[in-house]
Amino acid sequence: MSLRTMARGLVKGVTWKNPVVNLAVHAVDPIDSIARRIGGRSHLPPYSIRARSVGIRNDIGGSEFVQVGQRMGDLLRTYAGLTPESKVLEIGCGCGRNAFALASHLNDGNYTGMDIEQVALAGARSNRLLRAKGFQFDFLDVRNDAYNPTGRYLATEYVLPYADQSFDIVFMVSVFTHMLTGEVRNYVRQIARVLKPGGRCFFTAFLRDGRDDRQFPFRAEEHSYANQAIPGIAVAYSLAFLAATFAGSGMKLSAGPVWGTAHHDALQTRDQDIVVFSK
Ligand SMILES: C[S@@+](CC[C@H](N)C(=O)[O-])C[C@H]1O[C@@H](n2cnc3c(N)ncnc32)[C@H](O)[C@@H]1O
Repeated sequence: MSLRTMARGLVKGVTWKNPVVNLAVHAVDPIDSIARRIGGRSHLPPYSIRARSVGIRNDIGGSEFVQVGQRMGDLLRTYAGLTPESKVLEIGCGCGRNAFALASHLNDGNYTGMDIEQVALAGARSNRLLRAKGFQFDFLDVRNDAYNPTGRYLATEYVLPYADQSFDIVFMVSVFTHMLTGEVRNYVRQIARVLKPGGRCFFTAFLRDGRDDRQFPFRAEEHSYANQAIPGIAVAYSLAFLAATFAGSGMKLSAGPVWGTAHHDALQTRDQDIVVFSK
């Protein structure tokens, strides 16, 4: 067992919530700040904020943060038809990893990001570059056992505060990964409502199909999960369930699944599977 594997086994859950880890993560901020300045990435949020939305990584200076965001931008162009004119909603945008990448893609289009975790979201919201681009970031106080356990509204019944048929693309990177069956069902209905006809929903998820059951050993309703105490830490779904749920809202599979590197390695959480549904 490698040191990395052992460390991951010791620090389970949303890692920044562990007080010792949190302290260590903040201690990295000054070094990260210097590395970002040298690398021309001073505009990115500090390491301790990035860790809240993308986990603890060996990414001092933020080059991986930028690369992954850019890869998502490319995937959105390839699989969801993102153009510079697209009107885009990102659900669970965190501190803006994908927003930074889209800032150079979108011209006449626009970007709205929403999240339920205040601190990471504030990192994106207060960013001058993203503000200058007109990007909007909304905090929505929806409950999630991993990210916002005291949230006011239930994800099972929450109505997203966006008009019907107002977006070309709704996307989520590692968000259904933290949501339970009834929550996914409601969000799919909401997504179908806010998408324009022909619009697409692109998301990354852990698909259960062909995966080793030991990665997600617990089961409730349609979701399998990895952490018995806090199911929302990592959740997997079958493609059949997702397809049936989207079909219930008049949407059909239009791309994928594109299998991520995480499909056969529970510890490699970087590349989840990708699926796209269109309305
Ligand atoms: C692993 S992070 C990914 C952040 C971002 N998508 C990225 O790629 O950098 C998961 C995000 O999903 C958000 N989230 C969890 N449940 C949510 C919900 N019900 N609605 C919206 N966002 C949610 C969390 O607050 C967190 O920011």
